[in-house]
Amino acid sequence: MTIALAPQDTPSQDAQHATAEGSFLHDVIAGLALQPKELAPKYFYDERGSQLFDNICALDEYYPYHVELELLPSVAADLSRFFHTELSAKESELGIIEFGAGSLRKITPLLDNIDCVSHLTAIDISKEHLLNSCNELRRQYSGLKVTAQAQDFTQPLNLEDPGSTRLGFFPGSTIGNLHRKQALDFLRNAGQTLGAGGYLLIGVDTKKPEYLLHQAYNDDRGVTAQFNKNILTRINRELGGDFDLMHFAHHAFYNHDYGRIEMHLRSLRAQRVHIADREFYFAKGESIHTENSYKYHPSEFADLARQAHWQTRRLWLAPDDLFAISLLQFNPAVDAR
Ligand code: AVJ
Repeated sequence: MTIALAPQDTPSQDAQHATAEGSFLHDVIAGLALQPKELAPKYFYDERGSQLFDNICALDEYYPYHVELELLPSVAADLSRFFHTELSAKESELGIIEFGAGSLRKITPLLDNIDCVSHLTAIDISKEHLLNSCNELRRQYSGLKVTAQAQDFTQPLNLEDPGSTRLGFFPGSTIGNLHRKQALDFLRNAGQTLGAGGYLLIGVDTKKPEYLLHQAYNDDRGVTAQFNKNILTRINRELGGDFDLMHFAHHAFYNHDYGRIEMHLRSLRAQRVHIADREFYFAKGESIHTENSYKYHPSEFADLARQAHWQTRRLWLAPDDLFAISLLQFNPAVDAR
């Protein structure tokens, strides 16, 4: 296996792939050189990782998935009424853009309730997974135009066919992966993509009793641990690494000071790991920080959104405030202080 850190003279048909692989290698090497070591959570989602995330969503402990899914039909019914009064006749076609679409399981309540949706653009980093889900959706909704865009949704987007009124959809509290500055960047980029007057329906996990958070990221069957460790398997396979999974342990806890769940992979002994031509030393107990999952009080999130010029138009809360869904509207004139 040959790996170029900065691929040059790449044959054009391979350029896309070489660049993606090159940046994965580059990011892994840069992240493991940091102190403390870290890896970006977007790299969880290879085929196996996307599958494992779906398995997490099937767990009772992982409340964010089923609580949001249960809230969505009533949100969608409200939205249908909202857009009925909000949109004028000439702009009555709604294009939905889903960020980090994954298995596209959450879009159906919207499609079933809001009748003016003409087009769905689904964006996800995991290409095969995305193409399969899009094909499935085309079979289910024959009148709907479905476009798949395989890319990192945190980057600015060029929509192929945006449609008249744009509704971004960002469920699952995926924004929780981003720290404050990244979240603001995402919201500003989404504003650019969706345009002045554009809407964003966003699912955000709330702050809650710590034991509930802890259980959600430390399930009894160890699915979350498998998901976390899969990033090492992926490095071994795609980058020729030699991580020994036996000697790393899943570690997840709530960090009060930052209001976030942190996931780590903790080295169970002193060891050396090789990736490409690099060697990385791990002390016993040293860990790789693999993920943050920020939790927001609804008012905290509304403040964050406002700083990126998004106004909160509606807010829905699940029972016991376990999860929040907000409808934002992009207004560049909104006071961002
Ligand atoms: C997909 C980022 C929302 O943070 O809860 C689930 C990922 N990590 N269990 C989350 C995840 C561990 C999930 N997000």
